[in-house]
Amino acid sequence: MTDNTSGTALPSFGKTPTQRWPVILENRGWKDYRLLDMGEGRKLERYGKYTIVRPEPQAMGQPMLNQSVWERADAVFTGDTDEEGPGRWKFSGNVDETWNMSYGAVSYVGRFMSFRHVGLFPEQAAHWDWVSEKIREEKARQPKRQLKILNLFGYTGLASLLPAVDGAHVTHVDASKKAIAYARENQALSGLDDLPIRWICEDASKFVAREVRRGNTYDGIILDPPKYGRGPKGEVWDLYTSLPGMLDSLQKLLSKDALFMILTAYAIRSSFVSIHELMAETLSKQGGLLESGELVIREENSKRALSTSLFSRWSSR
Ligand SMILES: C[S@@+](CC[C@H](N)C(=O)[O-])C[C@H]1O[C@@H](n2cnc3c(N)ncnc32)[C@H](O)[C@@H]1O
Repeated sequence: MTDNTSGTALPSFGKTPTQRWPVILENRGWKDYRLLDMGEGRKLERYGKYTIVRPEPQAMGQPMLNQSVWERADAVFTGDTDEEGPGRWKFSGNVDETWNMSYGAVSYVGRFMSFRHVGLFPEQAAHWDWVSEKIREEKARQPKRQLKILNLFGYTGLASLLPAVDGAHVTHVDASKKAIAYARENQALSGLDDLPIRWICEDASKFVAREVRRGNTYDGIILDPPKYGRGPKGEVWDLYTSLPGMLDSLQKLLSKDALFMILTAYAIRSSFVSIHELMAETLSKQGGLLESGELVIREENSKRALSTSLFSRWSSR
């Protein structure tokens, strides 16, 4: 359900990755997710059986659908327009505390969380599909190779469960016990309890530093860090100051035949060029391809796209 618009190829030197930007990775939704409409600083989405209205500062145009469609929404989040800001849910009738949805072989629970989330970030589907493609291509090339994937800041686990379904061994790291429990709930709901996933509740930077010391490596790395976060022992994550050191360590964690590394950044005032340059600097000897741009979601029945995050991703081929 994703569509890649290729950007311009930038020059490459020696083993520097070939670089390409801007790349717009577009998601048109799936059975259990649609962006229905947006405008006047809000978006109307469908998550499985529920339609939801949430603040969306990027939705600067006018809504296209009739106001009555918006008014029929099951839940409305009102309050702060900042992604991590406070606010509250208002429900139009009786809604279930949780409800089930799926993406491919993975089922997941929807839940009206504080900070406006409902348990997944649909724009990430572009990366889920790409990772799956990379794993399948490698399996076709080397059927016996056991791939190891690291998912940092993994939240409710979709980016861990999907590669595990494709046969990878996955290490999932998140600082929040609640988030890990949620991810395991999704694993159980999917009937995938036997998959080889290590669920680790720890500060991402600490975990990565330890893995470097141990000499462990991974064939694919996914990281979707927040702007600001805390580890279980109060360790501070600040994207602007922590990311360079994190990428430097992650470069050491890439195996000799590593396949990919994906960095997403949301809710920050920056440019994809900044994270592209940081990745280019860190991966300057990796060869391969480095492409960067934005993740967007395409409205149902409309020509408009909603920008959600910046990304930069490297692949060996
Ligand atoms: C919003 S989520 C990322 C979204 C996720 N990649 C996805 O697609 O569902 C950010 C996650 O980072 C975690 N986090 C915040 N600070 C952290 C830290 N210092 N170390 C590890 N995880 C952290 C939070 O608990 C949260 O689950």
